[in-house]
Amino acid sequence: MSAERISVLFVCLGNICRSPLAEGVFRHFARERGVEDCFDIDSAGTSGYHAGDPPDSRSVATARSRGIRVEGRSRQLRAADLQRFDYIVVMDDDNLRGAERLASGLTDARAQLHLLREWDTQGTGLGVPDPYSGGAQGFAEVQDIVERSCDRLLDHLLREYPTRCRGGG
Ligand code: 4NP
Repeated sequence: MSAERISVLFVCLGNICRSPLAEGVFRHFARERGVEDCFDIDSAGTSGYHAGDPPDSRSVATARSRGIRVEGRSRQLRAADLQRFDYIVVMDDDNLRGAERLASGLTDARAQLHLLREWDTQGTGLGVPDPYSGGAQGFAEVQDIVERSCDRLLDHLLREYPTRCRGGG
């Protein structure tokens, strides 16, 4: 029997630029390490502005240039996510407030809420900047931040849930 998966939800505002990228990068790293099957990985936005839309083509292109696939459709964060996921990893303080608002209406929230850059070796504690209204350089910077952070987040989760990923890590 396989162990319960470690569930991780990445959250930004629109769920088209940063959080689908984080989802794709995290999945890519987990696959490279042979532990993809230990995880249930998804992403969402605190807003429904882009619900149903594919990831922003600039996030897709930047990730593809590094051999990483970014896909899926935007959806809005919902209260049930707070009950279902082990970890909800947000990009900035606004996202954190949005997730906390949803959690505050629940008596049985399970998810731990964290900022992705808690696992960044550079600029820890800052948000992942919103690249939506900027140029390609912003997307490359976001990609660097997300790659650095997801690599260490993966280490962290494998250590936190050793019994859920036998043979992995
Ligand atoms: P994301 O970027 O939160 O990283 O997906 C944004 C996408 C869309 C908007 C803002 C940020 N928007 O205002 O439509």
